[in-house]
Amino acid sequence: MDSAIYDELSRPYVRAMVQQLLLGQTLGFSGNPFTTDWADTVQFDSSGGVLIEGGKIRAVGNGAALQTAHPDAVVTDYGDALISAGFVDAHMHYPQTAMIASWGKQLIDWLNTYTFPEEARFGDPAYAADIAGRTLDLALAHGTTTLTSFCTIHPTSVDAFFGAAATRNMAVVAGKTCMDRNAPKNLRDTAQSAYDESKALLEKWHGRGRTSYAITPRFSPTSTPAQLDALGALWAENPDCLMQTHLSEQLPEIAWVKDLFPDVRDYLDTYERFGLLGERGLYGHAIHLEDREIARLTEVGAAVVHCPTSNTFIGSGLFDLMGLAQAGVRTGLATDTGGGSSFSMLRTMAAAYEIGQLRGTALHPAQLMWLATEGSARALHMGGQIGHLGADAMADITVLDLASTPAITQRSTRARDIWDALFPTIMMGDDRAVKDVWVAGNRVSPA
Ligand code: GUN
Ligand code: ZN
Repeated sequence: MDSAIYDELSRPYVRAMVQQLLLGQTLGFSGNPFTTDWADTVQFDSSGGVLIEGGKIRAVGNGAALQTAHPDAVVTDYGDALISAGFVDAHMHYPQTAMIASWGKQLIDWLNTYTFPEEARFGDPAYAADIAGRTLDLALAHGTTTLTSFCTIHPTSVDAFFGAAATRNMAVVAGKTCMDRNAPKNLRDTAQSAYDESKALLEKWHGRGRTSYAITPRFSPTSTPAQLDALGALWAENPDCLMQTHLSEQLPEIAWVKDLFPDVRDYLDTYERFGLLGERGLYGHAIHLEDREIARLTEVGAAVVHCPTSNTFIGSGLFDLMGLAQAGVRTGLATDTGGGSSFSMLRTMAAAYEIGQLRGTALHPAQLMWLATEGSARALHMGGQIGHLGADAMADITVLDLASTPAITQRSTRARDIWDALFPTIMMGDDRAVKDVWVAGNRVSPA
């Protein structure tokens, strides 16, 4: 990371006066391409421009017209590259960065074998700071400008993540992961300490700069009813916070939940009865849902988060993206690092496309790009602020090179329109396709 960027961040009065104009192909959205014909939601300009001032997008329009109207703006001309809102990863685990791509296990064994031993290391603030910084830099290098992360049970892991995000001026959501059973002793808190520590962290970080706190019970197998109840109470006391957890990821997990909570109607009910179902709830995975669960998620306006590389990597199943999104369930997209096998939201879109195909639906590139930006932002209740290439949004922007490798280039020469040009990058692209990234109006060159 270029230290000059941080010098610039510490002089906001200078930044506010300078207008930046990015020229290139621009892609944004005016609506939800799952509930409206995608063609009616797309705002594409092959000679577009994005005017930035004071960390925000001031205007998106024709590049030449914006240049004429703002002759003093500092111009960055990206040629044929595609200027998009930065990607928004709606569910990941920064403490799992160093153990991504660990071989051979499904969910419960994967947690016990790889995840918990690694998470135990985050009691060390120096280690937590190292991995937090590494994760955020990897995210930026992949064009992801917002992460929604689980931390570990250690409050220091939350401080490390929010501190590293603040240094980079990134909008992030995170929370202390709470577990008081079915986890190693050194990774367990209690109902009371989970409540107390989450409350203290929330009061310290929520709404400070660009950080938002999410109350974070890991999943119902690792929380006692008393802990779920305590965290439900904390959410009721702080209703503007998000709440993130996992739901119905693998069949053995669901059977385990039903053993642990014999009275519940379904998995979602383990949250619902403790006050952990709500509009600002984020439910990761949500693959094997029952009809009642879908109805309740829709009714309350809660969000499900699709984690497709994780779902294939850990062997979880095929999420019904089209069915849920068209039913009006708020839906985000996420890497689920390190259960997911990539930091790249391009690879994540590719996996979502492939899972869609296995379920009999071909997702349009517009739908995939919307999910990775606007959809995830709406899941986080930050629609219009992040993940949006339009006036008044924060200038968190990713510029994609649509000819980043020889394989993609030779395919893109055949492209008939922007979708045909973009789709090979969605299917075959990675961090090499990320030409540039802007965070709050400041340029962050990929490593
Ligand atoms: N369920 C509970 N914890 C986790 C986790 O860390 N990753 C995934 N993929 N699923 C989980
Ligand atoms: Zn997860």
